[in-house]
Amino acid sequence: MPGPKPPVIQLRGVTKSYGQGEAAVHALRGPSGPDGEPLGVRLDVEEGDYVAVMGSSGSGKSTLMNILGCLDVPSSGRYLLDGIDVGGLDEHQLALVRNRKIGFVFQSFNLVPRTTALAQVELPLAYAGVRSAERRRRAEAALALVGLAERAGHRPNELSGGQQQRVAVARALVTSPAMLLADEPTGNLDSRSTEEVLAIIDGLNAAGRTVVMITHEDEVARHAKRVVRLVDGAIVSDVRQAAVDGPPPALAQEVGA
Ligand SMILES: Nc1ncnc2c1ncn2[C@@H]1O[C@H](COP(=O)(O)OP(=O)(O)O)[C@@H](O)[C@H]1O
Ligand SMILES: [Mg+2]
Repeated sequence: MPGPKPPVIQLRGVTKSYGQGEAAVHALRGPSGPDGEPLGVRLDVEEGDYVAVMGSSGSGKSTLMNILGCLDVPSSGRYLLDGIDVGGLDEHQLALVRNRKIGFVFQSFNLVPRTTALAQVELPLAYAGVRSAERRRRAEAALALVGLAERAGHRPNELSGGQQQRVAVARALVTSPAMLLADEPTGNLDSRSTEEVLAIIDGLNAAGRTVVMITHEDEVARHAKRVVRLVDGAIVSDVRQAAVDGPPPALAQEVGA
């Protein structure tokens, strides 16, 4: 019988430094040991959790996000993603892991210019080698899930900021990744679009998707089940919080793989 599922994220003694010697910046260091040496960051995130990572500018949020997203590698320590030790993987293998395990949402949407919403959402499926009819079916389902079924043929410049971010969320979830990783996903949105995008992310989590979201706004972090705070490259608090308003029922079911 298979054992219990491993956590989606396991960080053990993870540090990250930029530069060398005197000029080195220790962006992630964790607590200090008896001699002041960095012990590294330890973090577990179980499947289905919803974590907000908070901290002021320069505290190490993006460095942590880059490591969790396999966009960068730790200077020391181990990272297991969905049970896979990503430390031993080469560039090509890391790209595969990113495609299969992680759905990214960035502050600046990162959509491809002059490309329809449907084609944007199909893109990660194309990289994953999914055939075109299946790609289209899943991309349409993902767009419907974020309320943009009737905008499938629109290009980014024909969509509002909120709609563009919803396309990005559809693109992130269409591969059914182990985790949705969002860096300030509402940082460029007005308050109404912020609520719309957060309602979608809340709904995805309610349907079982693991979410890690970086934010410096309390109003955004309020949506998470757990808040991890970073100060100077170390986790200084990690607390569970009561849920805010539940997601709309229509979103409590996610597109099938
Ligand atoms: N590529 C880099 N080269 C050198 N220093 C960096 C680099 N990226 C980040 N840093 C430094 O690491 C620290 C943490 O940065 P970052 O992870 O971007 O923090 P945050 O996202 O919380 O603002 C900061 O002191 C920043 O200046
Ligand atoms: Mg940052």
